[in-house]
Amino acid sequence: MGLEGGGIAAQPSISEQISRPDLRAIYSHAMESIATATDLASLDAARVRFLGRKAELTALLRSIPELPVAERPEVGKIGNLVRRELEAAIEARREELEAGELMLGLEKDRVDISLPGWTLPLGHLHLVTQTRREIEDIFIGMGYEVADGPEVETDYYNFEALNTPADHPARSLHDTFFVNDQVLLRTHTSPVQIRTMERQRPPIHIIIPGKAYRRDSDATHTPMFHQVEGLVVGEHVTLADLKGTLETFARAMFGSERQVRLRPHFFPFTEPSVEVDVSCMICEGAGCRLCKKSGWLEILGAGMVDPNVFGFVDYDPEVYSGFAFGMGIERIAMLKHGVNDLRLFFENDLRFLRQF
Ligand code: DAH
Repeated sequence: MGLEGGGIAAQPSISEQISRPDLRAIYSHAMESIATATDLASLDAARVRFLGRKAELTALLRSIPELPVAERPEVGKIGNLVRRELEAAIEARREELEAGELMLGLEKDRVDISLPGWTLPLGHLHLVTQTRREIEDIFIGMGYEVADGPEVETDYYNFEALNTPADHPARSLHDTFFVNDQVLLRTHTSPVQIRTMERQRPPIHIIIPGKAYRRDSDATHTPMFHQVEGLVVGEHVTLADLKGTLETFARAMFGSERQVRLRPHFFPFTEPSVEVDVSCMICEGAGCRLCKKSGWLEILGAGMVDPNVFGFVDYDPEVYSGFAFGMGIERIAMLKHGVNDLRLFFENDLRFLRQF
């Protein structure tokens, strides 16, 4: 259906409407200049030339009062129509040119996103932190909570309440850094056992990761090192629970085929006390350099909480029993990753650290 069918008459094209040759010439001349303007400056020049104060069209429109009466309506109507058409054409051309300049700018500043980027060096957690988290995850999986306590401790928490009185020979093994008579850098994480038991009643299932300090320095001792302490207190906690717990830990840490063995030992705060060995993961127990031909590697100390310790925190030893253990994080990491010198952990040599 044609346009007429819709009741709308087709608009005659503008050049068909311009009967006056002068207006027709202005119109076609101007339209050509606008269409061929190649930048915003030449477009503006065309605008001034054809629509400005001194333009031919402007003069013609201004001269209407002087024209013969019969010509006036035609010049007025068509002249203004031409003016509007030219303004619209300039505006349209301006948009085209501006878009073109934008594209040109984008082209000039183009970034080649297919070029390979710079990879920023990305660090990772220190082996001690990785190992600490691994140990924590294993015990959290068994229902333990993580606790902590101060590194600057009193003699009472570090020794006295752990059943290690002033004249006890075990003290000399600790090579303590003293701040003064009563204040020291804790030599182990065990004092947090006491602090925890003072704060809460059984049942207790906690591990305590943290730093410990001793005046000692060689391939297997550094003045600062890390331990994870464990403490379980309840109503029927037995040595079998301790063994099962440590077996679960050792297998999660070192592999499901590991065997665990308890050897009698002495610690002032546990009775009985044990040292715990895991079967060597290098030789599977056959004997090698790592396990010094014994087939076993010592991983931690442990035992049943000594009733005297319960006395210091007002737990009734007739009602409660418990076990405790303490391990060196660096030692666990050394065994697991075959590191042979403890000092490597603290030298911050990237060639070492990057291997983990
Ligand atoms: N505190 C001991 C140490 O640093 C390790 C230890 C042994 C902790 C036996 C314990 C334990 O809780 O029951 O050598």
